[in-house]
Amino acid sequence: HPSVQERIEKKRQAALTGGGQLRIAAQHKRGKLTARERLELLLDPDSFVEYDMFVEHRCSDFGMEADHNKYPGDSVVTGQGRINGRLVYVFSQDFTVFGGSLSGAHAQKICKIMDQAMMVGAPVIGLNDSGGARIQEGVESLAGYADIFLRNVMSSGVVPQISLIMGPCAGGAVYSPALTDFTFMVKDTSYLFITGPDVVKSVTNEDVSQEELGGAKTHTTVSGVAHRAFENDVDALLNLRDFFNFLPLSNKDPAPVTECHDPRDRLVPGLDTVVPFESTKAYDMLDIVHGIVDEREFFEIMPNYAKNIVVGFARMNGRTVGIVGNQPKVASGTAQEYGGIIRHGAKLLYAFAEATVPKITVITRKAYGGAYDVMSSKHLRGDVNYAWPSAEVAVMGAKGAVQIIFRGKENQAEAEAEYVEKFANPFPAAVRGFVDDIIQPSTTRKRICRDLEVLASKKQTNPWKKHANIPL
Ligand code: COA
Repeated sequence: HPSVQERIEKKRQAALTGGGQLRIAAQHKRGKLTARERLELLLDPDSFVEYDMFVEHRCSDFGMEADHNKYPGDSVVTGQGRINGRLVYVFSQDFTVFGGSLSGAHAQKICKIMDQAMMVGAPVIGLNDSGGARIQEGVESLAGYADIFLRNVMSSGVVPQISLIMGPCAGGAVYSPALTDFTFMVKDTSYLFITGPDVVKSVTNEDVSQEELGGAKTHTTVSGVAHRAFENDVDALLNLRDFFNFLPLSNKDPAPVTECHDPRDRLVPGLDTVVPFESTKAYDMLDIVHGIVDEREFFEIMPNYAKNIVVGFARMNGRTVGIVGNQPKVASGTAQEYGGIIRHGAKLLYAFAEATVPKITVITRKAYGGAYDVMSSKHLRGDVNYAWPSAEVAVMGAKGAVQIIFRGKENQAEAEAEYVEKFANPFPAAVRGFVDDIIQPSTTRKRICRDLEVLASKKQTNPWKKHANIPL
């Protein structure tokens, strides 16, 4: 009889090889790394502490009870580790074991790390690569999904949760990534859908490929389900490491402050001329963002979706900042109204109003109508609000305004000139204290870095609520 020590070692070895060399080779052939290789890239060297390597599925139907159908650790690798020295809980689904499908035991392993992450106050990253619910297990597997969903919801707003989709993710499997704070995908090798192309064909007779239905392009440009896509596994995991550095460990921790080599008081002369003299000419908001943030580094979220707004993370004097910028380069039209811009705009307004973090606003040019209010105005508890000299704060543009208030009157041109003189400048907002200062664009970085330092100790709370009710 083999000694216990030998048995332990044998099981460990079996866990490390997952579904075996053939399936590992198949995984590589598809351009995908294995579950363990992925964790090695994601985490700091030698930092991974694995849990539940000996857990096996408990299914005894369809011949699953046979020894050759048992894989130590089952179809997911779980544990904790470090990214740049900071704690993170991880799970990585192993497609080489039953297609990474989710058994009751697989779900239990994920729940264990989610529970501990909540108790400790650390983020959870899920690397998803799974054929969905373990078909042989039926409702036990479905129960497993729901156990994870519940934890996703309870963890929401407490610890950051990030999903990286690195293979198939279908049916019930899609809801956990959808509940997490950020969903990233790998181009060409990952897809997300509720039902696959075959079911779509049988129900609506539409012919659609897997890639068209739920590939990275679809979800980062059309549906908005995923926040960003990366070229391949390596690119995705390295980007994930960078992204992780922006986030706090939990809602009780501040976001990390990194050492900054970009002078905090650096002037950005290019910004003095970035807004075209002609008020109808477009410019690129990204030029402004890149100009003011540390080292021009901006991690854009949803770069190819709703391109009329620029959203992402950067640092200023080493502090994490979230950036929301209107993009004048991209025009709007009827599609916006039909797409429910009122509802979506309300969401944005709600988020700005509710936020208790330091809020700094710069009006670079047009702040017309509701947009003036929505974009973190003073009235929504903006802490510091600036206007550039090119700012125009008004109910609407001169032409439209004059057509309404001087309808049918002569001297429209004169009235327009008067309107422009009155409103197409930052003074109406500045004389009322709705903007705190009119600043030279080149000084924007310097001003914001200084404000962030002052505001670092900001404390503000919202009224008690059972839960908030953001418009969906
Ligand atoms: N339950 C149990 N085993 C599964 C599984 C599942 N949901 N999905 C895949 N597997 C197994 C396969 O039987 C196969 O086992 P084998 O290596 O012993 O032959 C292995 O995982 C790989 O699957 P395979 O179908 O060969 O890989 P593929 O790359 O050709 O296709 C999928 C991958 C995910 C598209 C395909 O397996 C699939 O459609 N699975 C079911 C998806 C689904 O509808 N799940 C329920 C959603 S809740």
